[in-house]
Amino acid sequence: MIPLEDNFFRVIDYLRLSVTDRCNLRCVYCMPASGLQPFDHSDILSYEEIIRIVRVAARLGVRKVRITGGEPLTRKNLSFLVSSLKKIEGIEDLSMTTNGILLDKYAQELSAAGLDRVNISLDSFNPDRYRQITRGGDLSDVLRGIEAAEKAGLRPLKINMVPLRGVNDDEIEQFARMTLGSEYHFRFIEFMPSGVIDTWEPGKYITTEEMKEIIGKKIGPLTPVKLRKNGPSKYFRLQGAKGVIGFISALSHHFCGECNRLRLTSEGKLRPCLFSETEIDLRSPLRTGADDAEIERLLRLSIAVKPEGHNINAAMSELPGPGRQHNFSKRPMPRIGG
Ligand code: 5AD
Ligand code: SF4
Repeated sequence: MIPLEDNFFRVIDYLRLSVTDRCNLRCVYCMPASGLQPFDHSDILSYEEIIRIVRVAARLGVRKVRITGGEPLTRKNLSFLVSSLKKIEGIEDLSMTTNGILLDKYAQELSAAGLDRVNISLDSFNPDRYRQITRGGDLSDVLRGIEAAEKAGLRPLKINMVPLRGVNDDEIEQFARMTLGSEYHFRFIEFMPSGVIDTWEPGKYITTEEMKEIIGKKIGPLTPVKLRKNGPSKYFRLQGAKGVIGFISALSHHFCGECNRLRLTSEGKLRPCLFSETEIDLRSPLRTGADDAEIERLLRLSIAVKPEGHNINAAMSELPGPGRQHNFSKRPMPRIGG
């Protein structure tokens, strides 16, 4: 087997699967207030189609799979997909990104089906603000979801927050402090301009550097820690803390050099880079009788066209001013799978 290596010597061993573009929330950094027109069910890959792609990808060296959305738990019988993916030879790590709203109901079942761990989005500990950011979400559902995930052994549990200036940036300190008493990973994700969101303003964007400064000033120094398989996030620990703080700096630091991932959208497009419009369709070939060799060829092709990096920083500095529309990615995040 020739492993999936791209033109820039990056070994691709991580596949992110968006299993639906639907979501039960409408977070301000992800969706427009009016929501998105969902794809027809017939346009979405079936579980059988997804499983077949992952089987071929695993033969090519993919070892980690993450299930994303939209909100993956809005898709029926997700445990079937989880248990089928878990059985594929070569898949060592199976995780899911979720908003946690339905996790209380499904954590146990998912864990029993073979899910290893979850990342949960939580942008505020204040119920009113949480409702405002998610446009209607109930914080208590997520908190129960987190508890259920913990009980079900979906560890290490990662909590993701997207700090937005003037919205929830005053909670950066509180989130960071959570690591003092909890083993969870608290991760700060830089706000990214994406698709059709109507809330993007350069003024709302907070860099990792600024977040670190806030934490350093209000709590104490951050010591870098090296975690196994930590992808693009950089981890730190506060003195004496049980948990770690992570930063995902999509814009301010180029992590493209370490990018090991490929994405599959819910309607079957391979997407080599979150920030590039290049997509390779797998659905039509799958539905017109392509054999595994053809799927392998398309997987390899998508790696061959994986760009070296994005140039969003350059594009950002050319933005005329706060509130102006951007056009970095035409495809909204819930259709790519973050
Ligand atoms: N900027 C940063 N992160 C985003 N996500 C979605 N949209 C954005 C954006 N514009 C990430 C969040 C969320 C996950 C589902 O996707 O981290 O937790
Ligand atoms: Fe849904 Fe996640 Fe997007 Fe929020 S960020 S609207 S939870 S897909």
